[in-house]
Amino acid sequence: MASGDATAAGQRRPVDSDTVPGSSDFVVVANRLPIDMEVLADGTVNWRRSPGGLVTALEPLLRKQRGSWIGWPGVIDGPEEPITEDGLQLYPVRLSGEDVAQYYEGFSNATLWPLYHDVIVKPAYHREWWERYVDVNRRFAEAASRAAAPGATVWVQDYQLQLVPKMLRNLRPDVTIGFFLHIPFPPVELFMQIPWRAEIIDGLLGADLVGFHLAGGAQNFLFLSRTLAGAETSRASVGVRSKFGEVNLGSRTIKVGAFPISIDSAELDRHSRSRAIRRRAKEIRDELGNPRKMLLGVDRMDYTKGVDVRLRAVAELLAAGRIKGNATVLLQLATPSRERVDGYRILRNEVEQQVGHINGEYGEVGHPVVHYLHRPVPRDELIAFFVAADVMLVTPLRDGMNLVAKEYVACHSDLGGALVLSEFTGAAAELRQAYLTNPHDLEGVKDAIEAAVDQTAEEGRRRMRSMRRQVLAHDVDLWARAFLDALDDTKCVQRGVAR
Ligand code: ADP
Ligand code: G6P
Repeated sequence: MASGDATAAGQRRPVDSDTVPGSSDFVVVANRLPIDMEVLADGTVNWRRSPGGLVTALEPLLRKQRGSWIGWPGVIDGPEEPITEDGLQLYPVRLSGEDVAQYYEGFSNATLWPLYHDVIVKPAYHREWWERYVDVNRRFAEAASRAAAPGATVWVQDYQLQLVPKMLRNLRPDVTIGFFLHIPFPPVELFMQIPWRAEIIDGLLGADLVGFHLAGGAQNFLFLSRTLAGAETSRASVGVRSKFGEVNLGSRTIKVGAFPISIDSAELDRHSRSRAIRRRAKEIRDELGNPRKMLLGVDRMDYTKGVDVRLRAVAELLAAGRIKGNATVLLQLATPSRERVDGYRILRNEVEQQVGHINGEYGEVGHPVVHYLHRPVPRDELIAFFVAADVMLVTPLRDGMNLVAKEYVACHSDLGGALVLSEFTGAAAELRQAYLTNPHDLEGVKDAIEAAVDQTAEEGRRRMRSMRRQVLAHDVDLWARAFLDALDDTKCVQRGVAR
């Protein structure tokens, strides 16, 4: 399913009544389903790929596993009937208007999201939001319990569902439960702000394996398990690919580890080499007026992504004549996101003002410097943009991983292009040959962009070759295998089986 592709609802059929819940050996539980329901003005229903990196990573994987996916279809009071699509069984969880306002926009995205991203925006703490978070987490746990076969593996995803592991364990002690956090796990001093901090740690400790992108997150979690749950922790080595720790809580052992997520690199590499994509990439450059350098930004419209930072840097570079408006074009794609949450509304206004300012000052009639699209684009078109761009700008103030950086690298088999990458992304730990930069240091960001724009072909090839080696060797299959193998290992530990 390509991003932004719409499909008539009629093409998806309800699950046969004999494929009843309770039969799935492998269940993913995430806030969102991989497809989003959209009701058009004339009442017709379309399904589109859901936004964000979680879906990018998990959707192809789950399709191969033929598992079940429990999640919200993205609309208020949506359908509850299970849907089967291409071997994938989808179990929608219905959210009311209040659920969306308090659990999704409130506690998930105005409390946890800003707190876990280094309080770029001030988190709000409201008891009603928390109560709703508990309630909705319980409904997800119940849905997982209904879908899982005896002894199934259930993989719970991300910050919206941190209470599900414990709730599910209480309902179904027979299932093996993994939890993976797709965003950064914050420093202890920040986590301790949460009035319900002990409940969250307790919720996560219901899992058999808790995974983070980076070792730092795992360490923070181990510390909090000691302080808030009174558990004993140790550094343990289980599995081959990850750094692990262990939490001992009563008779249970919970494994904790770092698993940096990735993309389907080989598929993207292959796809980006296709003649159709190459042709489209060339057309895109023609349509942009064949600039000497094409810069690209691809993000959800989120204040963590530093879209405003890069626009400020570009504006100052233009003002100083360090890059030329008549030779440079920046294409900024921004998928709409969480638009009813204040911080997001403010950011969008700011970004749109900055785009207007740059074009007003440095553009010409028919030749704006910044081209800006506030919408998702189809997957093929996005790949063509990656292929076409000379410089990719990835400047988040904080990001768990950032798959866009890896996607750009996977699309450059020609060894062309340059990646400007914030040090505050998980990806920076792997892509050391990017033009790494501190997004809080505007002069540094300007220098990095200028260096990337002016790099020699030889320097670019050297950097891109090294980054491609990393991205192609560490793909999403490896990530999932590392996590699921480690989760499988915990079954042996729980049953006292020697490995
Ligand atoms: P996040 O999960 O925070 O949104 P990531 O960079 O990890 O950030 O993942 C974003 C995913 O969404 C990537 O697969 C990217 O290609 C996709 N994406 C982002 N913006 C767009 C867009 N405008 N159109 C289509 N896909 C997009
Ligand atoms: C990030 C989060 C995901 C989330 C995605 C899109 O990738 O880690 O859990 O699904 O953003 O955000 P949204 O709020 O639209 O689901």
